[in-house]
Amino acid sequence: AHVDPTALTRSSTDTNHPRPSYNDTTKLSSNNWTFNKTLSNLIRKNILRFLDPERDISILKGTLKPGDIIHYVFDRHSTTNISENLYRLLPTVSPMKNQHHRRCAIVGNSGILLNSSCGPEIDSHDFVIRCNLAPVEEYSRDVGWRTNLVTMNPSVVQRAFQDLVSEEWRDRFLQRLRSLSGSVLWIPAFMAKGGEERVEWALRLILLHTVDVRTAFPSLRLLHAVRGYWLTNNVHIKRPTTGLLMYTMATRFCEEIHLYGFWPFPLDPQGKPVKYHYYDTLKYEYTSSSSPHTMPLEFRTLSTLHRQGALRLHTGTCD
Ligand code: CTP
Repeated sequence: AHVDPTALTRSSTDTNHPRPSYNDTTKLSSNNWTFNKTLSNLIRKNILRFLDPERDISILKGTLKPGDIIHYVFDRHSTTNISENLYRLLPTVSPMKNQHHRRCAIVGNSGILLNSSCGPEIDSHDFVIRCNLAPVEEYSRDVGWRTNLVTMNPSVVQRAFQDLVSEEWRDRFLQRLRSLSGSVLWIPAFMAKGGEERVEWALRLILLHTVDVRTAFPSLRLLHAVRGYWLTNNVHIKRPTTGLLMYTMATRFCEEIHLYGFWPFPLDPQGKPVKYHYYDTLKYEYTSSSSPHTMPLEFRTLSTLHRQGALRLHTGTCD
């Protein structure tokens, strides 16, 4: 079948609601979804024209040395140095080298997951990706607990772990890192200035306690390449969210991609309130026009891809 790649998302660029809400363009059918392998292969091929997720998922050791100066991706005029600790934790080969999985789950952090009972279904995937060290233990019924790759924006150390101000918070953070046993910890350390110390604290703890995680630090070109791919497909995102970045990269390693916890709207399809995150009290400031993200636009794009069978968005309950 001939598939026009630009048709994928054309319909998702037309609206710009002042207050994002659930509407017809986001209506999802879940019963009659079938996987569209042809389209999924085509998307993978097109994404590979812009980036190679196997390579861009992390800078490798051979390419840098301690003391090297890096310009932040979004704050080009600010720089940071490669610390000894960061150098030690750079992988020598891509943590995703030769990895291919049949079914992957990407778990976003929306409150839509609460009371979903989706935990066991999420955990049944071959590879599970989570975002920003979101807690799993207390929520496992709804979000599962298995984790093969988890992201950690430097701001998480502040937002979820109180900047490690006390022994208690350092301990909690360490426990969370320890619970990742063997998975990839993906740290976008060079995106925006301001997180340098937080990254350093995290790395120091990992080294000091020989925490069993495989650290990865995205390449400096990743963000622009991902944005370039979506712009070429007529999706005018300002700055891709972690969730969209993960989907874009996962196309390289996964056959079928299932998304959970993607719902950037304050109300569910039935009109009931939805928390921004399933685990904290953060509000919907991100959907304001000052936000660097364009989550509702991303969501409409993902919905279109869902309807076409390229990915599957799960927004209901799993019982
Ligand atoms: N997400 C969503 N709807 C929400 C919250 C999150 O669809 N209500 C998805 C987004 O793709 C997001 C991902 O889940 O990237 C992870 O959520 P979060 O940790 O809030 O990520 P970001 O907003 O990307 O992180 P940051 O604010 O640090 O950029």
